[in-house]
Amino acid sequence: MPTVMPSSSPSRRCMDLRPERPVPGIVEDAAAGLLEAPRSLPPKYFYDAVGSALFDRICDTPEYYPTRTEAALLAAHAGEIMRRCQPRALVELGSGTSRKTRHLLRAAPAPARLTYWPLDVCEPVLEAQAIALEQEFPGLAVQPLVGDYHGGLAHLPPMPGPRLFVFLGGTLGNFRHHEALALLQELAVLMAPADALLLGVDRVKSTARLNAAYNDAAGVTAAFNLNLLQVLNRELAADFDPAAFSHHAAYDERAAQIEMALISRHAQQVELGALQRCITLAEGEPIRTEISRKFTPESLRALLAEAGLGLEALYQPEDGSFSLVSARRG
Ligand code: SAH
Ligand code: TRP
Repeated sequence: MPTVMPSSSPSRRCMDLRPERPVPGIVEDAAAGLLEAPRSLPPKYFYDAVGSALFDRICDTPEYYPTRTEAALLAAHAGEIMRRCQPRALVELGSGTSRKTRHLLRAAPAPARLTYWPLDVCEPVLEAQAIALEQEFPGLAVQPLVGDYHGGLAHLPPMPGPRLFVFLGGTLGNFRHHEALALLQELAVLMAPADALLLGVDRVKSTARLNAAYNDAAGVTAAFNLNLLQVLNRELAADFDPAAFSHHAAYDERAAQIEMALISRHAQQVELGALQRCITLAEGEPIRTEISRKFTPESLRALLAEAGLGLEALYQPEDGSFSLVSARRG
């Protein structure tokens, strides 16, 4: 079997990353998560074309400091990061619009010797960014990969090293400990001694600042969270009424994580056509949609060590609000 499937239409730029193991689709995930309380869904379904655009707007809200903070760290340290790794391949997990990655691409000493491999579940964004990036960075090769990193990374196409794996935006915090560990372990096993992982995670900080970041005054985060119901309506032939749910996000200090949910405003029944089931939600009942874990330098170092990765450099702003780390195997 080829590692990468040929594209189905000639205009299609993206390659499919063949999963190592079956990844559940939305019907399976909904059957596992929605039929009984406590109800929950995995976060990847946020990112249809509308959701991806809303996420990009979250990044510009005054309350959501992580994007700006991580961008500033990348702008300040991209030269050092690229010099230290000398990558021939830059592989980014959950690349989205690759906004912040541009700092790294700009710092590449010879763009013609580098290939950028953005991996994401959202194909329209990958396609559009591939075209934009090749215009912005003459000589740079961009090869987008469509796939789910939870399906494993063993079938990444062969590429010349060193490889710089990039995982930004605090996305690692959207997984529970065992899921984050599994993903880091898979990366560690894949990494050659010359490869490096550049990882951005959000830090433990005041509850007020964290709550504000996930409850922006303009309501963009609420719209992003509620858009999940439109995805379910479309993909599952469901009949969720977004007006019957409210956005909820709050920091749990003990668990060191933001917990996000959609709260049923009143008792209601919802039809899940694709599952041939109707569910009954009580007033105030949550559908958990996301967690976002916050780290300390110590908790991150321990997680990396458990995965077989050693911390090589830690970049942080003066207020310690975010960590950008470079890690290597061993
Ligand atoms: N890296 C960007 C975007 C973060 S948003 C930033 O730091 O701002 C998370 C991104 O990961 C989205 O683009 C989403 O489509 C993608 N994503 C979510 N779950 C994924 C999965 N399981 N596999 C691959 N990509 C995923
Ligand atoms: N990785 C981002 C984070 O944890 C994702 C995110 C930001 C998010 N705001 C959100 C996910 C709102 C769901 C809803 O910060």
